[in-house]
Amino acid sequence: MTAEKLLENINVFRDVILDELKQAESLDALEELRASAIGRARGRLNDFKKYLTELPAADKPAFGARFNAVKVEIEAAIDARHAELSASGPASIALDLSMPARRQWRGAKHPVTIVLEEIEAIFRDLGFTIATGPEAEHEWYNFVALNFPPDHPAMDMHDTLYLERGGLLRTHTSLVQIRTLQSYPPPIRIIAPGNVFRRDFFDASHAPMFAQVEGMAVDEGISFVDLKATLANFANRFFGETKTRFRPSFFPFTEPSAEMDVACQICKGAGCPTCKQTGWVEILGCGMMHPSVLEAAGVDAQKYSGWAFGMGPARMALQRFGIPDIRIQYDSDIAFLEQFAQ
Ligand code: PHE
Repeated sequence: MTAEKLLENINVFRDVILDELKQAESLDALEELRASAIGRARGRLNDFKKYLTELPAADKPAFGARFNAVKVEIEAAIDARHAELSASGPASIALDLSMPARRQWRGAKHPVTIVLEEIEAIFRDLGFTIATGPEAEHEWYNFVALNFPPDHPAMDMHDTLYLERGGLLRTHTSLVQIRTLQSYPPPIRIIAPGNVFRRDFFDASHAPMFAQVEGMAVDEGISFVDLKATLANFANRFFGETKTRFRPSFFPFTEPSAEMDVACQICKGAGCPTCKQTGWVEILGCGMMHPSVLEAAGVDAQKYSGWAFGMGPARMALQRFGIPDIRIQYDSDIAFLEQFAQ
């Protein structure tokens, strides 16, 4: 081989090794490369030595110098890569104090929880205590004690999952009225937040499982005036000064019964798709407790009277936060929920 050709080959060899070096991702791979490139025993560089002996004497010094230079360069490059790879290894993680801190993960309360807590706070101020009851209930509490006659059409709206031995998933929180009065005699004022289950379709304003807050006040001489005043006071505190209206309604466990609407907070009463152009949104059902309910709970209906209401915090959350569809609240969509993080 001519000296010229040999020089060209050793330069190509140099380029190839430096290229392979870049690809060595571990110290093991690097040491393997060191052995196969410039190692005494099997280094590919050794092949050039053989050709060196065959060169004419005049060409030897120049090629010899190049040979040594390439060897030194490769060795240095391997050493540098060695330092690089060991620095990024787990043994010596560099501490960079200028690095920005990791963003703190902040949880957020669900809109329904925010509304529930606000409702609880307002009623706590008004002297109400929080009561609870089981979600899997007995038919007697859900219907019979609340004055639903057997097979009454009012039960159609309350179809649910029936369990063994007269059990069911409760369709409303009204039965907490009974459970509470059985344990605590009047005078009493409670609210009872909790989940309920119904055959309702999953649409923009209904869900088959949703939270309710029951309210009840029982004492001597309680009248509809107390009911209206309490609920109007509540609405003004919850929504800010707002109009409310009571419409006659029917529930087997209250007489008279009413539904309370608030002026739609989204259009301020002008009419929009959320309030179905009426300007009003129903947020609760209420009424004077039926004497048979008081009697079923063991309370003397001659002496005591009471009122009760049941409101839907998920619907109130729509109003409070301007959410157009109740279903979004059950989607676990982070982009939606993150908006409620303070
Ligand atoms: N329990 C009723 C419902 O689920 C609401 C209600 C509660 C009505 C208390 C009157 C009194 O629709």
